[in-house]
Order: sequence, then structure tokens, then C-alpha cells
Amino acid sequence: MDKDIVILAIESSCDETAAAVVKNGREVLSNVIYSQIELHKLYGGVVPEIASRKHIEKINPVIEKALKDAHMTLSDVDALAVTYGPGLVGALLVGVAEAKAISYASGKPLVPVHHIEGHISANYIENKDLEPPFLCMVVSGGHTHLVLVKDYGKYEIIGRTHDDAAGEAFDKVARAIGLGYPGGPKIDRLAKEGNSGAITFPKAHIQGAPLDFSFSGVKSAVLNYLNECRMKKIEVNTADVAASFQKAIVDVIVEHTMEAAGEYKIRKVALAGGVASNSALREAMELACSRRHLEFYRPSPLLCTDNAAMIGAAGYYDYLNGKRAGLDLNAIPNLKIGEGL
Ligand code: KG4
Ligand code: ZN
Repeated sequence: MDKDIVILAIESSCDETAAAVVKNGREVLSNVIYSQIELHKLYGGVVPEIASRKHIEKINPVIEKALKDAHMTLSDVDALAVTYGPGLVGALLVGVAEAKAISYASGKPLVPVHHIEGHISANYIENKDLEPPFLCMVVSGGHTHLVLVKDYGKYEIIGRTHDDAAGEAFDKVARAIGLGYPGGPKIDRLAKEGNSGAITFPKAHIQGAPLDFSFSGVKSAVLNYLNECRMKKIEVNTADVAASFQKAIVDVIVEHTMEAAGEYKIRKVALAGGVASNSALREAMELACSRRHLEFYRPSPLLCTDNAAMIGAAGYYDYLNGKRAGLDLNAIPNLKIGEGL
């Protein structure tokens, strides 16, 4: 049998400081996440400068804990994997600088990982049988991409948002109905008490680009609805608003994914990114897939939101593909999928 490959992965692209030890891309030996959410809640969103400072404070203890939880030392590790984009530049730089320092000190190779490719690869961890090609709907706070995973490390974007990302729309609507940050999980919870058919919010379709998305229209429609109620002094049922808004978003995501699966004749469909932990989206996608006899995959909620285990999974296949970075590796805040090193 081939030798096991153990990767120490680091993620610091937004407001989670994370490190993980992953064996052969699929076995998570440790997964440590320090979430800064409590800190940013005060400001209603992520404050980049505060995120960078907290990453600096937490990165060493988080890495030490990841090695300890895996019962390993650096000498047991074959390579380092680090997120180098996309994300907040000051936040990314903390992980990149740390990974370069460890690589230099230990002589271990450094593998640069794309954050979204990490989200997609989270699906490999709990679905040991999942292999490309498959279709992956990536819905996170900053990204909404329908991605054709052609092979390990080979991606084609076949649908994208023209304005807000899905998670961004969840966060903005949550703020408008007074739920606070981060809004996604709160809307998810509140929507369970509401009627998703109570209000009809528009589902945007882009002319000439049937697999693309636009979420700013539905967000504005919710804001207009709230204003109108306020002006007419009608009491707002926030649970109904949450459920109806969530349905508008979920329906479009599922419809476009099913259309793409048909068009590209793909039998395997996966979800990824923070919004992939949304319970209504998971249920609707599962139902749509089972109706069409498609295999459905999604990471468990902890692996949907930012973590380093997913970076270790993506990093393993990048490592096998020979992807390496030198000590001149820099953070690339607007890195595109399939581009870069
Ligand atoms: O993937 P992620 O952790 O960070 C990015 O790379 O952007 O995604 C964070 C986003 C936030 O917008 C958050 O509100 C959303 O994922 N989110 C959810 C849920 N859990 C997290 N959205 C809807 N329902 C959820 N249960
Ligand atoms: Zn993310």
C-alpha cells in the first residue's frame, strides 16, 4: 500500500482561525476552529482589522491544538496546506505567513489552496466514495458558484451570481428584520415557525444566462415589503418573512442546479459553503435529487462553514497534482477558481 500522506492545513480567510490534520485527503485526525463571531456581532458584520488581529493572537494555539488532538508533532506531517485566497487580505496574510514560517523551519513542502476549492472538497471527507465528475453548488457568504468538478483540482464555473452572494442576502435580510449577525442560521431557525407561502418574493432569472443568479432583487423586495408594512402600520410577521424569503432563495438554487445536472448530464450533485448548512436548502435539494435519481452529497454543518479540514482535503489532491508554493507566496484576495498557482 502507498504511504499515508498527512497534511497540516491552515485557514484564516475571514473570521475563523482554523487548523486541521488530515490523512490522505479524507480522514480528519483533528479539526480546530476558533470562531470570532462573538467579536464581530457587536458591529453587525466582520470588521477586517479586528479579524486580522484576532488571527494573529489565535493562530499558534489553534495549530498547536490541532497537532495535539491528532497525537502528532510536526515531524509526522508530510506537507502544509494554506488558504491563500479569496478572502480578506489582512486575514489571509496571517495564515500564509504562518504556513511559510512553518514550511521554512521544518523543510516541509507548502501547498497553496483556493478557499472555494476547499469548500467543495469538504464533500470528500464524509463521502468516501465521492469522486469527480460531479456538480457542486457553492453557496457561501461571499460566493455563489455552480461548479462542474471535472477531476481533482479541475473546475469549470457554469453559473455565478451577478450581484449579492446567497449568504450575503441571508445576512442583509436578517439584519433588516432585526435578527443580527450572522443572519443565515437565525433565518433558518425562525423560518421553521413561519409560512413560506405567506408572501411571494421574486425569483430572479438572468436573461440569456439561465444558470446564473441574482439575489439583490429578492433582498430589495423584502426591504420594500418591510417599509410598506411600517408605513401602513401593519405588524410584520418576521417568521413568515424569513420563511418566504428563504423559499425564494432555495427554489432558485435548486432549480438552477437541477437544470445544470440535466444539461451537463451529471448524476452526482453536491452542496458546499456556509449556506449549504441551511436546513430548507438541504431538504429541497435532497428531494429534487431523489426525484431525478441523482446522488446527493453535502458536508455536515460543521464542515460547511469555514474550517481547515476542507483545506486539508483540497490540499491533499493539490499535493498529489504537484502544486507547490515557495516562500514568496502571497495572499490573493480576489483569486478565481482554477486560476493562480
Ligand atoms: O462559507 P462561509 O462560512 O464563509 C464564506 O466563505 O463566506 O459562509 C458564511 C455564510 C454567512 O453568510 C452565513 O449567514 C451563512 O453562511 N450561513 C447560513 C447558514 N449557516 C451559515 N445561511 C443560511 N442558513 C444557514 N443555516
Ligand atoms: Zn468560506
